[in-house]
This record gives sequence, C-alpha cells and structure tokens, in this order.
Amino acid sequence: MEESLQAVREEILGRIGHCTTDQEIEQLRVEYVGRKGKLTLLLRGLKDIPSEQRPQRGAELNELRGFFEAEIEARLKALKRGEKERILREERVDITLPGNRSERGGVHPLMLVMDEIIDVFLRMGFEVARGPDIEDDYHNFEALNMPKDHPARDMQDTFFVSGDHVLRTHTSPVQIRVMERRKPPLQVIVPGAVYRHDDDATHSPMFHQVEGFMVDSHISFSDLKGVLTHVLRQIFEEKAGVRFRPSFFPFTEPSAEIDIQCVLCSGRGRTGEGQLCRVCKGSAWLEILGAGMIDPAVFRFVGYDPEKVSGFAFGMGVERIAMLKFGIEDIRLFFQNDLRFLKQFR
Ligand code: DAH
Repeated sequence: MEESLQAVREEILGRIGHCTTDQEIEQLRVEYVGRKGKLTLLLRGLKDIPSEQRPQRGAELNELRGFFEAEIEARLKALKRGEKERILREERVDITLPGNRSERGGVHPLMLVMDEIIDVFLRMGFEVARGPDIEDDYHNFEALNMPKDHPARDMQDTFFVSGDHVLRTHTSPVQIRVMERRKPPLQVIVPGAVYRHDDDATHSPMFHQVEGFMVDSHISFSDLKGVLTHVLRQIFEEKAGVRFRPSFFPFTEPSAEIDIQCVLCSGRGRTGEGQLCRVCKGSAWLEILGAGMIDPAVFRFVGYDPEKVSGFAFGMGVERIAMLKFGIEDIRLFFQNDLRFLKQFR
C-alpha cells in the first residue's frame, strides 16, 4: 500500500475539520495514532522498507505524526474557545433590563393618624393602655355611670356578643380597667377599635377611638382645656381656633364637646367663591372631641375618693380626624382595601 503521505495529510486535515466535539477528536486520535492506528501502522511498516530509504521515510512519518498532534491540539483549543463564546452569547445577562419590583407595603392611613395622635400624647408624658374588644356590661356601661335602664345607652347602638358581653362601644371602659388596678396620678391614653351598629358614609360598624384621661389630686377644667387645645393644634394647625361647648356624657360632669375651626375653609364657612364649605356645611366649626371632668360616681365605682382626686377624660374618633386631615368624604374607603386609595398615604 503506497498511499502518498501528502494524501494522508490532506485526509487528516479534512477529518479534523469535521470534528465538533472532544469525543470525536478522541476517536480520531485512536484511529490514527492508537495501537492499530493508521500512522502507527505506517511507522511500524518502516522495518519492511529498504534500509537506504528508511531514514528519509522515518523523518517524513515523524513529521506527519507531529503535524497530526499539533492539528488535533489546535482543533481542541478552537472547540473550547467556541464553547466559551457560545456560553457567553447564550447565557448573556442584560443588566440594563428593568428588574422585577417587589411590592412594598405601607402603613394604613388610619394607623398613620393614630400613631401621630399617640405621639403627641407621648411627648406630653401620657402612657398607652389597652383593653379587650369584647367587654362586659359592667365596664362598658355600668361603671361609666350608665345603669341598665339609662337612656344614655341608646346613644351607642350596641352589638351584643352573648349574655353579659358586648363588643365595646367606646374605649372608655379602659378608664375603669386602669383605675381599678392603679392609684393616681394617672396620665393615660387608650387607642383602639370600637363597634357600633351603624353603617353609612360617615359611620362604620368598626371604627377607632383614642380615649384619654388624667387623674390626680388637683386636676381642673383648665388642665382639660390646656391639654386638649394643645393636642388639637398639634394634630391640625398651630393657629386653629378651638371652641368648648357644654354637652352631656353620663361619665363626666361637667361635659364638653370641643370643636376646631374648619380645616377646609379656615373657619370662614364659605369657599373663595362664596359657596357653603362642604366640610363644615357653613358652620365654620368641626366637632372633634367629647370630654369632661370625670364624674364622682365613676370614681366611686373604682374605689377612689372623689373628695381627694379629680380628673378629666376625653374621647376622639380616629376616622373622623383622618377624614378631615385628608379630605376623605366616605368612611367606607378606609375598609375596602382598594390599593389605589391606600397607596396615596405612603
Ligand atoms: N365615650 C364617648 C363616645 O364614644 C366619648 C367620650 C366623651 C369619652 C367624653 C370620654 C369623655 O372619655 O370624657 O361617644
């Protein structure tokens, strides 16, 4: 078999050129330089040719073998480079693409306002107390000077839970719970949910109040006025007018309702165009708080001597304050969980 070495060289180049994987190259290596490989056999055949031709032929064969090895290495390198390029190309990450934003939650507007109110009181040295949402008749009514047949119970349309228990209709029962356990001086606020059988644009069956009270040996109505005027001006505007009107609550005597000047028309009652202000309906004032001096009867229920201690108490509706601050006209928006509404208060 006298195949020319030039032909073998070309065949090698062709075969290597067609290899696309490491395995194919390995196979080719076996086929040419393995134990029974084509080049191996050619080299072995050297012994059968005339001795004067042998050095020349040996040198040519060795050169061819070197050529084969070099081509194989070059091909392996090229394949590896191609693979790397493929990975870079196919697995490319476009760092300019916008990412997936995760939705960020926010504090509910009512809780924002609640926290703001609590903060004002904390700065004045009040502490925070809490009580149960399911309350017994004694704490919700009786000890607040509302006996079973008292008409004042009609002011609060009550959800009855069972027998003696109700969903608390106000945060005032926590006054009783705190005073039962502790002695004056007390400076306490009670933020929390309350419940009444009421449901329209300005009433929700569940809403929130911040109750507060201050009891010591010489607390007077002027303390009530000073504290609540300051609090309202902190929550609304520093210059807002504040007005106290006589009122009635069974658990305070005397009692007052407190108004602030309308936040929308600044106490003018009319808009710039002369129309009735839609927030205060032209009255220029907004009722914002119930308050009063704690009734001696309440002190007796908790075992305090009304001759020795005095105090004031107040209660405010968080929804009403939030509606006035943000200009919200329907209380139900707070509880519908519409993100388009809630997102405005971040
Ligand atoms: N508990 C009353 C209500 O829900 C609000 C209130 C008025 C609370 C006067 C008080 C107060 O502590 O002194 O309507």
